Amino acid sequence: MDRLNLFPDTTTIEHGSLTIGGCDLTNLADQFCTPLYLYDRATLDNAVDAYQTALAEFYPGVSGLTYAGKAFLCLAIAEWTQQHNMWLDCTGLGEIAIAVAAGVPRERLLAHGVNKSMEDLEAACEHAGVLVVDNLTELQHLVEISRHRSMPDLWLRFQPGLAVETHAYTQTGHAGSKFGMDALQILQAAQLCREHALTLTGLHFHQGSQFRDPTPLARGIDRALDLVQKIGFGAGWTLSPGGGWGVAYHEDELPQPDLADYARLVAGTLVRGCKERGLSLPRLHLEPGRGLVARAGVALYRVGAVKQIGDRVWALLDGGMADNPRPALYGSRYSALPVRDPERPAKEPVWFAGPYCESGDVLIEELLFPELREGDLVAVPVSGAYQLSMSSNYNGGRRPAVVWLDHGHVQVIQARELAEDLFRRDHRLVKPAGTV
Ligand SMILES: Cc1ncc(COP(=O)(O)O)c(C=O)c1O
Repeated sequence: MDRLNLFPDTTTIEHGSLTIGGCDLTNLADQFCTPLYLYDRATLDNAVDAYQTALAEFYPGVSGLTYAGKAFLCLAIAEWTQQHNMWLDCTGLGEIAIAVAAGVPRERLLAHGVNKSMEDLEAACEHAGVLVVDNLTELQHLVEISRHRSMPDLWLRFQPGLAVETHAYTQTGHAGSKFGMDALQILQAAQLCREHALTLTGLHFHQGSQFRDPTPLARGIDRALDLVQKIGFGAGWTLSPGGGWGVAYHEDELPQPDLADYARLVAGTLVRGCKERGLSLPRLHLEPGRGLVARAGVALYRVGAVKQIGDRVWALLDGGMADNPRPALYGSRYSALPVRDPERPAKEPVWFAGPYCESGDVLIEELLFPELREGDLVAVPVSGAYQLSMSSNYNGGRRPAVVWLDHGHVQVIQARELAEDLFRRDHRLVKPAGTV
């Protein structure tokens, strides 16, 4: 069944029930309640292996992997990145705090962010080995900060003025995007670094997320190398063409985009481009988020009610846009399987909606599905990236628990939010003195 190929590598059907990482999903739902997010360790590890193998195969120079924490970050995930010696990309003080609490060492902490506050910059200077500068104002702040403290190495974020094919909201490198600096600003930034003895060691750009045609990256790399030639980096410089390689979310999008196509193009363009310009080969850093964690994650929901209105069958789930805003934000398409007897034949198209007060709270539209009834469990694959990290408390929704499935062992890595958590930051109104 094609749909099964969207699920984590360890997924099997045992005694008529979906099983992941050696754990039966019905038991997990009974034990930890739904909605529940599962991360399969074996699939996470396999994804890292795939990236490292592709880099080793196609790039003759030094290379490394940075996990983009924005896809999903918690202490356990940060710890897992260190078990693989990956760098961790943190956006701002909040993600830096998670990385530090998880024990990520300075030399593997990369600080990103557009419009970093002074607190973000101070935290990055305190804890990061590399800080990626988004704009000239930020660089001026860094010059000030450098007067009273030691500084991380700096990379500059280049806006190549080139898009990749993806949803408009996940394009980042096109002209008109808010991210990074144009070529002229990059040269001014490099000059400022020289004047103030800031250590500039790399250039970064990121053209977008969830693309499956790598060819636009070739022009991005060429434009970046033209700049590198003008800047004149020393040996051991780094080029980071970001992340963004896509994954299939729906059976219509299978097979999964081939990582070799991506790595071959990036590495090949870089080697050729450096040779043509007489540049030394840089350290190549890829920065995937989704590509490492999306497929390892599964969202598990329970059906509250099934109702037919007109010719449409609705399955109402106990989670939706508060834990997964992607369909509402980007019109993202998902697939799903019933946990009980997942191979039984499909009966009819079903619309899966959540419990929230928005007509846009529809997780999946018109998916051919077997008959469902109240209490059934539905598993949504490819739920590991940009879901919980963009989740909300809309309608008082409490974020789901997250469990880590490690070859038959289960561990809660994030507890379910409680109702009390919803007003933990709140203060009751204080009556002004003299009023009754
Ligand atoms: C600077 C940067 N690096 C890496 C990523 C990770 O992208 P993805 O999760 O698609 O691999 C993003 C996502 O937008 C990004 O903005």
